[in-house]
Amino acid sequence: MFVWNLIVVQGMGCYFASDHCSTRMTDQDQASSVARKRPKSVTTSDDEERLSKKLRLSQNPEDSKPSLKSKPIVASYAPAQRQSHPPIQTSRSVYSYERLNQIEEGSYGVVFRAKDKQTGEVVALKKLKLDEEKHGFPITALREINSLMTCRHENVVRIREVVVGDTLTQVFIVMDFIEHDLKTLLSLMPNPFLQSEIKTLTLQLLRAVNHCHSHWILHRDLKTSNLLMNNRGTIKVADFGLARRFGDPVGVGGMTQLVVTLWYRAPEILLGAETYSTPIDIWSVGCIFGELLLHEPVFQAKGELEMIGLIFKLLGPPTVEDWPDFEDLPLTRTLNIPPPHPPTLRQKFPYLTASGIDLLSSMLTYDPELRTSAEQALHHPYFTESPLPKHPDLFPSFPSLAAGEKRRKAFESPSAPQRAKGQTEYDYV
Ligand SMILES: Nc1ncnc2c1ncn2[C@@H]1O[C@H](COP(=O)(O)OP(=O)(O)O)[C@@H](O)[C@H]1O
Ligand SMILES: [Mg+2]
Repeated sequence: MFVWNLIVVQGMGCYFASDHCSTRMTDQDQASSVARKRPKSVTTSDDEERLSKKLRLSQNPEDSKPSLKSKPIVASYAPAQRQSHPPIQTSRSVYSYERLNQIEEGSYGVVFRAKDKQTGEVVALKKLKLDEEKHGFPITALREINSLMTCRHENVVRIREVVVGDTLTQVFIVMDFIEHDLKTLLSLMPNPFLQSEIKTLTLQLLRAVNHCHSHWILHRDLKTSNLLMNNRGTIKVADFGLARRFGDPVGVGGMTQLVVTLWYRAPEILLGAETYSTPIDIWSVGCIFGELLLHEPVFQAKGELEMIGLIFKLLGPPTVEDWPDFEDLPLTRTLNIPPPHPPTLRQKFPYLTASGIDLLSSMLTYDPELRTSAEQALHHPYFTESPLPKHPDLFPSFPSLAAGEKRRKAFESPSAPQRAKGQTEYDYV
């Protein structure tokens, strides 16, 4: 099982390896790379006939030179390759990269900043946590790799390849290095983003989410620490560690409810819904939009009950009229529902225009069926009223903590322990 899965990942690795060389292989590249591997003896009379036909048709005097010696005959005439199933090769080694610094240790992996030894490009390497796996290559890691591949977009972090270390537990996703994550940036910025900047960021986030949803991928962990931002005003959605396909029939146990970080978790998940879909990501986008406006997270709860209480306070408790399924959700009966009261959204966001409030409440809508979609939200009038979204090129740039441009608080961590003998530079966890 493990070996089989590893082959799958190695197969993916080879896909990235071809992608890695700046652009994907074109049909022609693929054809010639295959041709290079074909022994000369496989040159067929067909090949030769087609070549001579080409020579006859060519207007270019260079082409008409007899080039059979300098150019392998089969090179330009190998049969076209299927594009969707690249040939299987092994993944490159993590030692193709020089480790620069550790950016972050998150819940599922460690992220390093590293330099490609061949090209000098700076990248981010995310080491997948596989050490405790007893049942083969974890499905979550496969989903993460697969979702990143499926959701390629200007506003989704670009996966370059998958590389492997010395042991079977050392598998790394190589991504473009992006200077900031939005959570760290918000905590370091002295002033909140301007309205025009918030519009640009929210639009970019909605475009990414719309793209994922239209490719049948739920992210399931949208939050500011999973949104990267470069110094050219562009957001990149990252961390597909909890992502999964939707739309397929759901198994007997339903979908896992252990998804989405508490502060960004939609009410239907909090109340125990066994199936959910794209609206859970939109709720999280609403929380992020609110966080950009407030310069702090909207719902800062310590536990699920407190979280539900904070939502009820902001939106008013739900009623069967505005959320017909509410009463049937598994955990609704366990709650003490407060007496009805009007929402306090306006008081919480006093400077937001009526249109902005309308967009925010369309994302923070109780009933998932009535909640806006990413596509609808992209066309909301909020984005076309003054002030207009700022062009990303006009965004200010900030020192990148991840690139070591500004030190973390000096007292934050003791110095690292000495490396044990025999440990490698990528072997820290
Ligand atoms: N491509 C990247 N470029 C720069 N920093 C990154 C990149 N990917 C992740 N990071 C940093 O590492 C952190 C953890 O990465 P993430 O993919 O969210 O892992 P986890 O699943 O452990 O939360 C992010 O919050 C961000 O600060
Ligand atoms: Mg994360």
